[in-house]
Amino acid sequence: MANPLFAKKTLAMLHEEMQGEDRLHRALGATQLTGMGVGAIIGTGIFVLTGIAAHDHTGPALMLSFVVSGMACIFAALCYAEFASMAPVAGSAYTYAYSTLGELFAWIIGWDLVLEYAVASSTVAHGWSHYFQDFLNVFGQKVLGRAEGLHLPAIFQTAPFDYDPAVGKLVGTGSVMDLPALIITVIITLLLIKGIKESATFNASMVAVKLAVVLFVIGVGAFFIKPENWHPFAPFGLTGISFFGHTVSGQTGAGGEPLGMLAGAAIIFFAYIGFDAVSTQAEEAKNPKRDVPIGIIASLLICTILYIAVSAVLTGMVRYDQIDISAPVSSAFGQAGLPWAQFLISLGAIAGITSVLLVMMLSQPRILLAMARDGLLPKGTFAAVHPTFRTPWKGQIITGIFVGTLASFLPLRILAELVNIGTLLAFVMVCGAVLVMRKISPEAERPFKAPWSPFVPIMGILTCLLLMFSLPPENWLRLFIWLAIGFIIYFGYGAKHSALRRASANRKRNVA
Ligand code: ALA
Repeated sequence: MANPLFAKKTLAMLHEEMQGEDRLHRALGATQLTGMGVGAIIGTGIFVLTGIAAHDHTGPALMLSFVVSGMACIFAALCYAEFASMAPVAGSAYTYAYSTLGELFAWIIGWDLVLEYAVASSTVAHGWSHYFQDFLNVFGQKVLGRAEGLHLPAIFQTAPFDYDPAVGKLVGTGSVMDLPALIITVIITLLLIKGIKESATFNASMVAVKLAVVLFVIGVGAFFIKPENWHPFAPFGLTGISFFGHTVSGQTGAGGEPLGMLAGAAIIFFAYIGFDAVSTQAEEAKNPKRDVPIGIIASLLICTILYIAVSAVLTGMVRYDQIDISAPVSSAFGQAGLPWAQFLISLGAIAGITSVLLVMMLSQPRILLAMARDGLLPKGTFAAVHPTFRTPWKGQIITGIFVGTLASFLPLRILAELVNIGTLLAFVMVCGAVLVMRKISPEAERPFKAPWSPFVPIMGILTCLLLMFSLPPENWLRLFIWLAIGFIIYFGYGAKHSALRRASANRKRNVA
């Protein structure tokens, strides 16, 4: 008898499900899907992490880090696009794994995607709050003429405690909660419950603002580049790989983390996360087989080009060791003597980060919805679709509570690093799943096919693994702990309620 842990859903089952009742509202075209992709991609990564990466890990070689990380994502995106065109349902990588690698792997990937979407949302909400407070301060100084700026009461500025890497433990911050992070999470949750169309429209306006700001940074910043700032090009070297705590190639930082261009690529990988979110909206696409692959690939290509250009401008405007690590892009313009541009860019960053939050928080309940439909999570809660708005409203509220709580009360440093390793694992599994699907169902209709298979999926697996090993090593331990918690939930609930297992047990009973 086949092991039920590896039971698979067939493509026919997925197609049948797509015809069922209680589906989401099909309202998105290729342009909106591309907008959703760009909305999910450009945010904290380019506006914040570029500073830390260039200053501490790469120097001007940050440009190459964006190329390497972008390539890993393009390989994975082609694989995502193939699957999304074959099975345009809400579950994304989770559903692809269910139909190729079986239920247990599907659970692992679904649980892993909580790291990508919900935990990333918390990190982003926290970042939003910091940019918002920065903006208030600059607004107070420059517009209201108050020398001391504008500030929220200290008890609402940040989480009550934080992790201090210098001493290696939690320290009190004197605050009670991060109020702006909570408020933005509540607003986005309400908007997402209201409807996919309203969310896409709001997202489109945010995307327009941030694209304008990014183009401004490139177009205006180019005039302030000093080519001597690009020398030395790679002060930390061109590698940076560790194997469970031992640096295999490149320099090692004070905390034991690898340094160099590849280590930088693993950090700024966060900036690319989000293109795959388009695949979670497949069920809301008007013509998913065509438009979802377009949305995934177009949004990623646009962002890759913009990122390489922004990193060239940033490291050309300011010497890498003088880059401000909290607001690198806007500060570069302040350092160049353009305070009005600094103001404009922080506004763009707020818009950019808002739309990332919107798409990330949109994606999480859709993954949970797919898992609940399969019985792996409680159906009455996570698979409930609102009768009027046609959105997964209960899952959305639970996501909002989870994200708001993490973002306003918990130190997110540790959780943020987890996001990258979790997402990279999901990409490895999707690339692997494309290879398996080609083997088990070579005849299945593939409206979009990843080119040069098996080269593309194999390169996707190898480049994502390379980036996983370029992250600080303790992330592996955190990933294993996260997965262990997932196993407890799976064996405690999912394995007992799996719809696939129940259907197969019923079939056997009927035959007997
Ligand atoms: N790519 C997203 C960002 O940079 C997660 O904020």
